[in-house]
Amino acid sequence: MRSTGKIILIAASFFSVVSCTNVTEFKKDDTERKIDELLSKMTLEEKIGQMHQISIERNIEKHFTDLQNGNIGSVFNTVNPIMANQIQKVAVEESRLGIPILFARDVIHGFKTIFPIPLGQAATFNPALIQEGARIAAVEASAAGVRWTFAPMMDISRDARWGRIAESCGEDTYLTEKMAEAMVRGFQGDDLSNPASVASCPKHFVGYGAAESGRDYNSTYITERQLRNVYLPPFEAAVKAGAATIMTSFNDNDGIPASGNPFILRTVLRDEWGFDGVVVSDWSSVTEMVSHGFCSDRKDAARKSVNAGVDIEMVSGSFIKHIPDLVGESCIDMNTIDAAVRNILRIKFRLGLFDNPYVNTTLEDSAYYHPNHLAAAKQTAVESVVLLKNEENVLPIRSDKKRIAIVGPLADAQHDQLGTWVFDSEEEKTVTPLNAIRESYGDKYSIIYEPGLTYSRDNNVAGIAKAVNAAKQADIILAFVGEESILSGEAHSLADISLQGKQSQLLAELSKTGKPLVTVIMAGRPLTIENDLNVSDALMYAWHPGTMGGEAIADLLFGECSPSGKLPVTFPRMVGQIPIYYNRNNTGRPARGTETLIHEIPLKAGQTSLGCNSYWLDAGYDELFPFGYGLSYTKFNYDSLNISSDRFSENDTVKVNFTLENIGDFEGTEIVQLYVQDKVGSVTRPIKELKRFDRITLSPGEKQNINFSLPVKELAFWNLDMEKVVEPGDFVLMVGPNSKDLMTKKFVVE
Ligand code: BGC
Repeated sequence: MRSTGKIILIAASFFSVVSCTNVTEFKKDDTERKIDELLSKMTLEEKIGQMHQISIERNIEKHFTDLQNGNIGSVFNTVNPIMANQIQKVAVEESRLGIPILFARDVIHGFKTIFPIPLGQAATFNPALIQEGARIAAVEASAAGVRWTFAPMMDISRDARWGRIAESCGEDTYLTEKMAEAMVRGFQGDDLSNPASVASCPKHFVGYGAAESGRDYNSTYITERQLRNVYLPPFEAAVKAGAATIMTSFNDNDGIPASGNPFILRTVLRDEWGFDGVVVSDWSSVTEMVSHGFCSDRKDAARKSVNAGVDIEMVSGSFIKHIPDLVGESCIDMNTIDAAVRNILRIKFRLGLFDNPYVNTTLEDSAYYHPNHLAAAKQTAVESVVLLKNEENVLPIRSDKKRIAIVGPLADAQHDQLGTWVFDSEEEKTVTPLNAIRESYGDKYSIIYEPGLTYSRDNNVAGIAKAVNAAKQADIILAFVGEESILSGEAHSLADISLQGKQSQLLAELSKTGKPLVTVIMAGRPLTIENDLNVSDALMYAWHPGTMGGEAIADLLFGECSPSGKLPVTFPRMVGQIPIYYNRNNTGRPARGTETLIHEIPLKAGQTSLGCNSYWLDAGYDELFPFGYGLSYTKFNYDSLNISSDRFSENDTVKVNFTLENIGDFEGTEIVQLYVQDKVGSVTRPIKELKRFDRITLSPGEKQNINFSLPVKELAFWNLDMEKVVEPGDFVLMVGPNSKDLMTKKFVVE
């Protein structure tokens, strides 16, 4: 254990979150003065009204009295701009103080133009592109009057059974941080008061993705150290990037539901990070604390939640009903209410709602599905697809493969390829692979379409023979399988994550034709696909790729561009390996790779004959595909790794240099990855952690020097004494194409 010379970083240095120029400083003071003035005029009921959020989709009239009385602060699910303006008019013109309503919506991966699910977006490792996508979503959503999205979701997800892994950026803290920053900046734009800017809401704070056994809403048991090292950093990054709001999570962590947890909502978020935005509960997560057995009744839930630091209660209505009594009984301090309302008003001022409360109702036509939006959605889908197998370079499809059989339930599934959390897109706008291939390649190839199964859970095998017959007449088979969109997302967890219905049978029978079989999987999670992989000659993982997914996949299949996505999450071989992730700690008995597997065990073997190391008798040692994995049509060679020194101190920066060469025949983009292992710590450290990545495009034969700079301070972690420090000692720096195949160099921090 290294205990000397700890370099303490100022973990809570985020009071500089809003790096202010004099002008913004003045604006801030000005805003605070306006808030003071407004607060001084507000009755307790009007204050509590700001803390009350409801969902309105229709029948707006029935809410007019509450709006007139100032009993509603924010509304979500109103996406008709005319209706939004009618609601706003009552709030602004007919209530005593005219405080505008803030309109919210779950705009998760696009509003009209749907981008790949967030897990697919993470596979691009391209924050700039993801930022552009969030900006586009904001432009489209704000044209409908939405100025607040409940996104991005930043839950570290290491369990593919959990349906909401689709909404996440996967298993890695650093990648999720980079995506969090990008999405926050994209949604919010340069200036929150721009009518096309949308306040972001990183969620779910915190630890929701660690739900036991992947069952949604389930308990989590994350220690404070793991919270700080793994689960909190993406939120910290989002706050630093200016996130206007944060949403609590449903889970209880170590017995404390997030909506009643002052440690995360006050100590960490407010005191350490200096967050001055709004904390909103998740949908009825305040009153669900009664079901959790954490609160005796709804009044108790309101008390615990407000005191813990929730500013707005989403839909469950316990604040509006019980806060007056709770304040009267001195169970909630008036200062606590004022602080919450101040946070809410601050965001409304920052959004410019007091000056400009109404949405321009003429924007919809020009904003929705703009050609630039569709192009960005296509590019994101192109970059999100991960090529997992390409035997004998069966892809891209060569021009001599004239007859193509297109099969599978996802080949022409306009609804399902959009993925989870899509409310506002018209599915007729979705371009499926079948349509895109017919449209763009139909003149050069003859296409036979025979789906075989009609949807992913289809158990009716009657159509399989027809698909096999079609395959027999073809030169190559393109099989589109996966999951319907309803199989992932909230409350859509699965205990069996293999292909549903008879899809594996379809693939196996197609493969028996001897024709080259290219499998494209569209899904909301990593599936256990080892057998399907074995019967396929090539396999592309396309997640749920969104509106333009078909065009993106078609261009990749026919070699218009080369796949470049990399896995943001480890693919297990068997569901029983879950949770499985690359940046685990080592055991005292790591597997060597020579252990006895189940079929090798001799009869009546003695207890110690199996090696006593950390592995599975049946699944072996490894995952199916490691984090960061993904192939290209070309090949890249990594060489000549150098670092600027082999000894560094606290304030140094490790300069890393290596060469990357395209040694194949196609232009291609490689996502180069840099990992670091801290060899020995005051607490055990992960075997490696992603610290940098970049996308590098090279022509055939082109070679480039790649440089990374890594400040030593970024090697800090929360140690035994719960301080964020860089502990001196030995480190290993690793560079390569995925989390497994890596060149290494050692260095020492003194
Ligand atoms: C989800 C949130 C979502 C909210 C509002 C909840 O059930 O957990 O992620 O933002 O509903 O729709």
